[in-house]
Amino acid sequence: MANRQVIYARRPEGVPVEADFELRDSQVPTAGPGLLHVRNLWLSLAPYQRLAMAGRYPFTPGFGVGHVMPGETVSRVVASGDPGFAPGELVLCRGGWQTEAAVPATDAETLPAGGPDPRLWLGALGINGLTAFAGLIDTGRPRPGDTVVVSAAAGSVGGLVGQIARIAGCRAVGIAGGPEKCRLATGTFGFDACVDYKAEGWTEALKAACPDGIDVYFDNVGGSVLDAAIPLLAIGGRIVLCGSASQYNAATPYPSPPLGLFVGRRAEVRGFVVYDHMARRDDIRRRLSRWLADGRLRNLEDVAEGLDAAPGQFCRLMRGETMGKVLVRLDS
Ligand SMILES: NC(=O)c1ccc[n+]([C@@H]2O[C@H](COP(=O)([O-])OP(=O)(O)OC[C@H]3O[C@@H](n4cnc5c(N)ncnc54)[C@H](OP(=O)(O)O)[C@@H]3O)[C@@H](O)[C@H]2O)c1
Repeated sequence: MANRQVIYARRPEGVPVEADFELRDSQVPTAGPGLLHVRNLWLSLAPYQRLAMAGRYPFTPGFGVGHVMPGETVSRVVASGDPGFAPGELVLCRGGWQTEAAVPATDAETLPAGGPDPRLWLGALGINGLTAFAGLIDTGRPRPGDTVVVSAAAGSVGGLVGQIARIAGCRAVGIAGGPEKCRLATGTFGFDACVDYKAEGWTEALKAACPDGIDVYFDNVGGSVLDAAIPLLAIGGRIVLCGSASQYNAATPYPSPPLGLFVGRRAEVRGFVVYDHMARRDDIRRRLSRWLADGRLRNLEDVAEGLDAAPGQFCRLMRGETMGKVLVRLDS
């Protein structure tokens, strides 16, 4: 059987289109010393992959046109070149946009047998769950009663941030693109309010939703939405700069807001990178698992079937058309 792969074929102009990718069949990889031959079961699609295509993502060095698209996967070990892994085990690894992969054993993590649904390791228990928890709790430091505002509130990270804010005793206010996304945030995710930034007069609506100002703004999108949140910061407000999804398809940088705005607010602005928090991942996952099990945390997914659907699913993500964690099921 061949290894089906999605290749980065052409540098996108603006929002990616399917023609920026190519599907091809390649040789099935072998394990080799220190490597695992894995069959990918679930593939995670995420906005950073667009940054990687633009050569602006520091954690995929050397990636470029002609390479297999990068991505985290839940995979089954077929053959192992490392004594720490056995065939048949489920692992979390960077298997990429392909059906089979040879991955370094040092970069793979065994998933517990009989544990939660494996796809959760790419969502609420994966990078995005760790990002939402560590970004909000450790970096944003919310106190009970605080108003926490999060953009891309119907997305994977944003939906989890709002739910964790509620668990921490805060008011959660979302910002999202469109009424359906806002309904998801206030309905399924239990946000106190959600503002549609594509609607007329939305900045006034945000102000009305935050009568005492914003204590923590968790920024997933940057650009004009960040601009609108800054003047609403409460004294001592914190901004967690997690991502700037509104700018990933842009060719030129968005201008920084005037720094003077932060002075009067005694505001704290902190960049966040999840990889700085990996030492705490087991502890964070235990808490997230508990909340998932007792129903306080909902993990929504937007699933496409089969590797050939991955480029189209990614283009939907980068057009802002998805809700929840964006996945591709590879073993259907
Ligand atoms: N710093 C870290 O360590 C770290 C780790 C993981 C993720 N992240 C970041 O966290 C953010 C959320 O990631 P995610 O995986 O949960 O993605 P996501 O929120 O599920 O999807 C991205 C969302 O961005 C919003 N968006 C705003 N402007 C957009 C535009 N011009 N084009 C397309 N989408 C636009 C869309 O929601 P609306 O329609 O509501 O605008 C879209 O659904 C991203 O910025 C990502 O890079 C950072």
